[in-house]
Amino acid sequence: MNVLEFDHASIRIGGHVVLAETSFAIKQGEFIGVLGPNGSGKTTLMRSILGLLRPSAGSIFVFGRTPRRGNALIGYVPQVRTVAPDLRMRGFDFIASSIRGDRWGLPTRGQADRNMIDDSLAAVGALDLAERPLSDMSGGERQRLLLAQALLGEPKLLLLDEPLISLDQRYQETIIELVGRFARERNITVLFSAHELNQLIGALDRVLYLGNGRAALGTVAEVVTSPVLSQLYGTDIDVVHADGHIFVFSRGRDVERHDHLHDHAQDRQHHA
Ligand SMILES: Nc1ncnc2c1ncn2[C@@H]1O[C@H](COP(=O)(O)OP(=O)(O)O)[C@@H](O)[C@H]1O
Ligand SMILES: [Mg+2]
Repeated sequence: MNVLEFDHASIRIGGHVVLAETSFAIKQGEFIGVLGPNGSGKTTLMRSILGLLRPSAGSIFVFGRTPRRGNALIGYVPQVRTVAPDLRMRGFDFIASSIRGDRWGLPTRGQADRNMIDDSLAAVGALDLAERPLSDMSGGERQRLLLAQALLGEPKLLLLDEPLISLDQRYQETIIELVGRFARERNITVLFSAHELNQLIGALDRVLYLGNGRAALGTVAEVVTSPVLSQLYGTDIDVVHADGHIFVFSRGRDVERHDHLHDHAQDRQHHA
């Protein structure tokens, strides 16, 4: 069965068409790298899957049904964490506090709930974070905690929106490895958006590359080519393979890197 299906789906925000008559299908257990320049619609795509915005035309199916809010089959780590957590909070309470529904806010938490939180912490190797305050954690440790939160309730689809932002190289690799292994073991479908293709290449099955209102889904060899990316970027793109890496250039400028420089600066402020 397709976990996710876009059938000639268009998504508009205000007057702006983010996706135009886009069709693709993703199967259970696939690890999909979601790529594309800043503003190409990676976050919007995830929000549409969550049922937070509807297509203006065409259809979207998630597990064969119209997207709806609060779908327990989906775990989500949003790109921008708008709620600044109380940094004195312990890891365990942070996870418990922000979960679906009010029952988590109740002072007496059932043993079953506690076990579930412990299981999700264990899954990302973060049991040691349960008792530690957020103020005491590195960026990588907090990212693990967010991941543990997304894993609660045993989702079958994980939407991870730029989870590598503002992490140093070592933590980036850890997070990718962790998500990849976890998803394989449990046959979970992953949509993992990122600035850069290279860091994800070892983990992904296919890429969903967005740009210019369009989307291309396929293997790296199928999608990350000069003709396909030139369409998506709306300008001549060169794809250069070197040193086991793939670089995407427009007129000699590395577009993946340059596009996102200001993004990183903003994120540093967010996380400071
Ligand atoms: N709340 C919003 N109001 C107006 N425009 C928005 C809003 N959210 C996103 N957009 C626009 O939709 C497009 C896609 O944005 P987004 O999904 O955030 O892209 P990405 O995640 O790939 O950087 C951009 O042109 C952006 O400016
Ligand atoms: Mg985004």
